[in-house]
Amino acid sequence: MSKANHTLRFPGDKSLSHRAAIFSAIAKGESHIENYLSAEDTMNTLSAFTFLGTEFKERGNKIIVRSPGIENWHSDAVTIDLGNSGTAARLLLGLFAGKPGSSVEITGDASLRKRPMARVTKVLEQYGAKYSILDKLPIRVDGVQLATLEHEETKGSAQIKSALMLAAIASQTKLSLHELKPSRDHTENILRFLGCEILKEKVDSGFKIQLNPPYSINANEFQIWGDVSSAAFFVVLASLLDIESLTIENVLFNSYRGEYLEVLKSMGANIEIQELEPKTGERGSNLIIKPARLRAIQVKPEQVPSIIDEIPILTVAAVFSEGEFIIRGAEELRIKESDRIHAMVLNLNNLGITVEEFDDGFSLKGNPNAVLNGEVESFLDHRVVMSFEIAKLRSIQNAEKAKSNSKVLIQGQEWVNTSFPSFYNLIRQVMK
Ligand code: S3P
Repeated sequence: MSKANHTLRFPGDKSLSHRAAIFSAIAKGESHIENYLSAEDTMNTLSAFTFLGTEFKERGNKIIVRSPGIENWHSDAVTIDLGNSGTAARLLLGLFAGKPGSSVEITGDASLRKRPMARVTKVLEQYGAKYSILDKLPIRVDGVQLATLEHEETKGSAQIKSALMLAAIASQTKLSLHELKPSRDHTENILRFLGCEILKEKVDSGFKIQLNPPYSINANEFQIWGDVSSAAFFVVLASLLDIESLTIENVLFNSYRGEYLEVLKSMGANIEIQELEPKTGERGSNLIIKPARLRAIQVKPEQVPSIIDEIPILTVAAVFSEGEFIIRGAEELRIKESDRIHAMVLNLNNLGITVEEFDDGFSLKGNPNAVLNGEVESFLDHRVVMSFEIAKLRSIQNAEKAKSNSKVLIQGQEWVNTSFPSFYNLIRQVMK
């Protein structure tokens, strides 16, 4: 590994890519998406709409989507396989439920078929949505005209919020949503960018959001910032390893997604954030990271929705920090691509780290000199695999310094392809 300065750029943000694909398919005409994430999850979302009459092709670093528009989508019964993507499944369960005349069966891989869907279907059923079954995929959705939607969102889930917004848009019906635990706001931001009127008001208990028809979504040019959640693996890598510095250019900067940077800073990380001009309704930034000695902290429960995808990699940062790391109020972690509380606790135990497990989180004592040995199970979860790859690199560095050995065997490296196919290439670039 060289001590050099490294500069990286990341493929498009996964949450933004899903939404750009969905709104390109809703709009009639030709949309262009620059820096779309070409990973399994997001390619499945683009492909889903080809069953309804859209076409897409790659031209340079753009995806060109041609759609007949939502009102002209095919109404033949189709089955759509969304692979590993919970975001695609939940958002499309909302969208198709509100599109009168559509008949779509949604399914996915072994991991996705275990994940709860009732958080979307049970809510929309109250407003007339027709699902063959509520809880688990495969689910057939027969789209109908929905009644006015009114809901209190208590889980802090942007997937639920976005599913309801898409259902309202497809049905040209009104939505009033009380969001008690604020979650990522990309659907709101892209709707504003597309010229839709959206009322979002801060109240004592979260936000009140209102969408009023008619909705008219036109074809557009979407520019996607680099994936800030994928960047997290490299922010932690650069904090933990002996490199000079790492610059990550053109990455999404959104307070509901960048909160992990604040958590790392409060652990002592050396991160400079340079803000850039907004694109497609979202802000961006360059990040400059230098190695630092980290101290473990207690994460505040109210931070959890904004760091939900980064908890596995923040846990790795904590493993190599001084002091105790505690995270509570994170029960949503149990229903991600895997039960991430169980996956992190079991794998850390297998590597010789003592972790106390709670229903809604865990705690552990960090050790900057930790040397890990053992096997890591993937639990079919990309973020579990990538997190332990970073842990492995620091452990090898610690072992070299202590003139001992570290052997960490990580299973299921192919799961990285769901969100970040260039992960191993970029690691090699920084480590050579
Ligand atoms: C996402 C929302 C989050 C997150 C997922 C992507 C999105 O899920 O975990 O990776 O794009 O809306 P929840 O909002 O259900 O927590």
